[in-house]
Amino acid sequence: MSELIPALSEAEIAAIDAELSHVPVPAGAAIDALKIVQAHRGWISDESLNAIAKHLGMSAAELDGIATFYTLIFRRPVGEKVILLCNSVTCWMKGCDALQQTITEQLGIGMGETTTDNKYTLLPMTCLGACDKAPVMMVGDDLHEEITAQSLQALFSNAGSGGET
Ligand code: FES
Repeated sequence: MSELIPALSEAEIAAIDAELSHVPVPAGAAIDALKIVQAHRGWISDESLNAIAKHLGMSAAELDGIATFYTLIFRRPVGEKVILLCNSVTCWMKGCDALQQTITEQLGIGMGETTTDNKYTLLPMTCLGACDKAPVMMVGDDLHEEITAQSLQALFSNAGSGGET
């Protein structure tokens, strides 16, 4: 029989409680609590969302509203690295649509999809604040500026063969 994974671990609860000690009201720790659990699990399941909400004394709907509004909280499973391709105006003018197509051809995934090896998920992102270096994207924690079809080719050349980016 498989062991049940708790909706919140003791380590997650301890980290959330540490955040709670810095805010005047529990809801003030909502985003940090979501980030803590996502750092442990990669995404926020309904079970975890409900448990966090209960721990913070909020309704699940209220917390889900925050989670859904905050782009970097993932409410569905994602790959090991999330590609956040900026599609705001400057990056759009600099050809992000064509670059998205290049990523799709290289990795075999469209927007919102994850590679079959679970390595990458491709998601749209609003302005990353690096418009002077457009077009830009994040891959995991790394910002990539002035991306081109050629730089994408180099970046993802090992994709599917287990190589690092
Ligand atoms: S529009 Fe893409 S970084 Fe600002």
